[in-house]
Amino acid sequence: MKSKDWLNRQKRDFYVKKAKKQGYLSRASYKLIEIDNKFNILKKSKKIFEFGAAPGGWCQVALDINPNIHITAIDLLELKINHPQIKFYKENFLNFNYDKQENKYDLILSDIAPNTTGHQSTDHLRISSMLFDIINKFDKLMIKNGVFVTKIWKGSEEKDLINILQNRFSEVSYFKPQSSRKDSAEIFIVAKKFKN
Ligand SMILES: C[S@@+](CC[C@H](N)C(=O)[O-])C[C@H]1O[C@@H](n2cnc3c(N)ncnc32)[C@H](O)[C@@H]1O
Repeated sequence: MKSKDWLNRQKRDFYVKKAKKQGYLSRASYKLIEIDNKFNILKKSKKIFEFGAAPGGWCQVALDINPNIHITAIDLLELKINHPQIKFYKENFLNFNYDKQENKYDLILSDIAPNTTGHQSTDHLRISSMLFDIINKFDKLMIKNGVFVTKIWKGSEEKDLINILQNRFSEVSYFKPQSSRKDSAEIFIVAKKFKN
């Protein structure tokens, strides 16, 4: 095993162990903690819509940091957390009835991930297609000046995605958390001040 691979694996194990110890449902929790430390989004939010929320690590972090927050979460898989402030829908986000939403949200989170093929550009195209679909829901879901945080796997569609976000938001930033593996194509985008 190359030393870089070994180090990366150690690091992965470190966050898995840390999550277990601290009672978080996923190692992904630390990515949202780091994003929030840098961009200070959770304390300012009242209502979150979360795409790809299972098992629920990000929900836990959001509620820990802001106990008053209300979350609407959607995933194909079951959420492993039950909380009176979480409204969960177990379904494909593509089939969800967004017209029925009475509320608009000040923070939209997406850690959604398609099943991976291991072929980087195919996986990139799949996650990008999901993100274009998610962005198309913003007019129904997001309040003016709202914030969007999403994971993406880097690749060819990234430029188009960023262009769309820059047209719709006043501030768009990239962020690679320490808890995200260095050798992974994963990166996060934080878009602030939705223009509506
Ligand atoms: C990386 S996990 C999210 C982890 C979560 N942030 C946490 O901290 O627990 C990605 C999730 O996206 C979900 N997903 C993938 N395709 C989906 C779809 N079409 N509709 C809803 N959820 C989907 C998967 O089921 C998976 O649970």
